Amino acid sequence: MPPAALAAPAADDEARIASRIESLIARMTLEEKAGQLTLVAAVREDEESDRDRKPGEPTAMQRQLAEIREGRIGAVFNGIGADWARKLQRAAVEESRLGIPVLISVDAIHGFHTIFPVPLAEAASWDPNLAERVARATAIEASAAGVAWNLAPNVDIARDARWGRGVEGAGEDVLLGQRFAAARVRGYQKSDGKSAADAHLSDRDAMLATPKHFAGYGAAEGGLDYNVAELSERTLREVYLPPFKAAFDAGALAVMAGFHEIGGVPMMANRQLLTHLLRDEWKFDGIVVSDYAADHELVVHGVAKNDREAVKIAFMAGVDVSMTSRLYQQYLPDLVRAGEVPMARVDEAVRRMLRVKMKLGLFDKPYERMDARRERTLNHTRQTRALAREAAQRSIVMLRNDRSLLPLGKGKQRIALIGPFASGPDHLNGPWTVFDDRRDAVSVEAGLRAALGRDAQLSVTQGSGIDSVLPGGIEAAVSAAQNADVVILAIGESEAMTGEAQSRTEVVVPPAQQALAEAIKVTGRPTVVLLRTGRALALEGAVRDADAILVTWFLAAETGNAIADVLFGDVSPSGRLPVSFPQRPGQVPIYYARKNTGRPPPPGPFQEYTARYRDISVDPLYAFGFGLSYSTVEYGKPELSTATLGPNGTLTASVMLRNIGKRAVDEVAQLYLRDRVGSVTRPLRELKNFERVKLAPGESKRVSFTLRREDLVFLGPDLKPVSEPGDYDLWIAPSSSGGIAASFELLGSAE
Ligand code: NOJ
Repeated sequence: MPPAALAAPAADDEARIASRIESLIARMTLEEKAGQLTLVAAVREDEESDRDRKPGEPTAMQRQLAEIREGRIGAVFNGIGADWARKLQRAAVEESRLGIPVLISVDAIHGFHTIFPVPLAEAASWDPNLAERVARATAIEASAAGVAWNLAPNVDIARDARWGRGVEGAGEDVLLGQRFAAARVRGYQKSDGKSAADAHLSDRDAMLATPKHFAGYGAAEGGLDYNVAELSERTLREVYLPPFKAAFDAGALAVMAGFHEIGGVPMMANRQLLTHLLRDEWKFDGIVVSDYAADHELVVHGVAKNDREAVKIAFMAGVDVSMTSRLYQQYLPDLVRAGEVPMARVDEAVRRMLRVKMKLGLFDKPYERMDARRERTLNHTRQTRALAREAAQRSIVMLRNDRSLLPLGKGKQRIALIGPFASGPDHLNGPWTVFDDRRDAVSVEAGLRAALGRDAQLSVTQGSGIDSVLPGGIEAAVSAAQNADVVILAIGESEAMTGEAQSRTEVVVPPAQQALAEAIKVTGRPTVVLLRTGRALALEGAVRDADAILVTWFLAAETGNAIADVLFGDVSPSGRLPVSFPQRPGQVPIYYARKNTGRPPPPGPFQEYTARYRDISVDPLYAFGFGLSYSTVEYGKPELSTATLGPNGTLTASVMLRNIGKRAVDEVAQLYLRDRVGSVTRPLRELKNFERVKLAPGESKRVSFTLRREDLVFLGPDLKPVSEPGDYDLWIAPSSSGGIAASFELLGSAE
């Protein structure tokens, strides 16, 4: 196809695609149709996979290739490498009856070969453009290995730190979630944001994005993964759905349905959401894929009596493609023959799958993404490593810096690096890396040594296990601290403590490491905590009170280098929390956009019969949006272009920022609104916009945001969008807490 045609896919392109699809559908058997709707896991070519094979029997790989030749498999995920992918593609394109290409898919959640900071960390950058560049780099590496379909991004809003999968998303906030969802989709699908969203999808370095897990999966009750999400339709629509909508608006042509249920209806059976909302209301025309064997799980949920019925329910609810269970392959043909599933529904799903394959260019250039030479040369390039370092630097959030302990000088001071995360290749990347080689990641120790050079006076002591006391560990750590001028304490969560099925009830630093921190505190040495974590943690005692705290999440490939860049002041920290850090674990779920209640607690001491805990205030330890830098930026009072916003008018809110410190910094100015009186209760604050601003020492800059009536729209009592005249408070502030308020009035209604 000539580039001009790619830039703006015209109606005749769609017509050509449609006619190609119809001619294929006319020739497909029912088994071949069910095959197109079947996504299976790759098998490995090794002894382990063939352990039970009898002499003379085909290997697992040979069996999978045979199934592809027979047209019984439409897509395969989590295999590795261009050569492997080519084998599969050859079987599909050259050796199957209809030559329909196979779709190679992967879970590249935060990188493919080069691993970038976990998505939650990246969201702390408050820099969607960075996320787009990272997603682009991921697509370039993955697509060279044959991948055309990414099972990402995770766009679940996560407000409960117990839930382990918060690490995969962009945190607690709707707007941040929308911005990151759209950015990641654009990056994977190579959309430039100008031409049609799928204009470059057929390029060899683009891949299909799959926002997941539709929808409300992050609201799992008790923070327990896979659990029931008890959600009102309002909260679903106001909080959990918008990032999906943003992903579709950015062009995503696939979506994954979650494992969970809402209101007694497992998502896989949720016709209301999968068909009425997605198709009828939102006009989504991509594919809906199940999560891993989630069709079978309808039996376990107790809404289907057997797998056959589960297939019927899931398929008729709107799940087009089945992942790993092979149940569609097994039961769909029979269900159609028995008249229980209409052929029209099968054709609809097949049509969607074939259309996606055509949009990806697989029919015209089936091998283009499978290029072993490109795969080798594009793996860990200088540019991707530099991007990984930049992303890691920007993800770090500084929570505390008493008496300006940081940045540290590179001079003669003796540093004791202590903790289970001080050294070694483990726990750097974080969960969800399918193809990384952890030896590629730079540890904290390696990063510090690289920064300090040969004269480094650096001692390294483990001090504690991750979850267990190390015999003699504390004594060794205390003695190392006593012999040092400053302690760097690398503590927090292991890789295994976050991610799928890794919920925790106590969202704290594990007790063995807390004990280590307490012992170090007694030495009186100035201490910097490097907090490795995939979630918000309730910081306690010596960790909470450390002289400096850097939240370093799982920063992956360039961990040590990025930490050294920030510790020694080559880079000023600029990350801001994408999740509220609780004072105590018992506060979760905790999020800034909460409601006032009828009995908000007054500031100050405990007062009976107000909405507060007996033991602590309702405030977080660190608020959403909070983060320090090596300078101080003063915010003036917000100025409004008008005190009244007309139904078709605009209002510009601006604020003067002044860097009164001695360092150049990136400040993240955040615009929050509160609708004082609504026909339904509104949150105390809602993030409406934000901007990263560079400020040289002494520099002042005005930051402006424009608001229109549309920005004030919410769902009224009948769940229809409304904007209601009345008074609003507005803040342009460095976090979700504090700041100087201004107010304005929305006039009339243009409904
Ligand atoms: C289960 C996870 O929930 C989903 O996010 C992932 O894409 C699949 N497994 C495949 O690995």
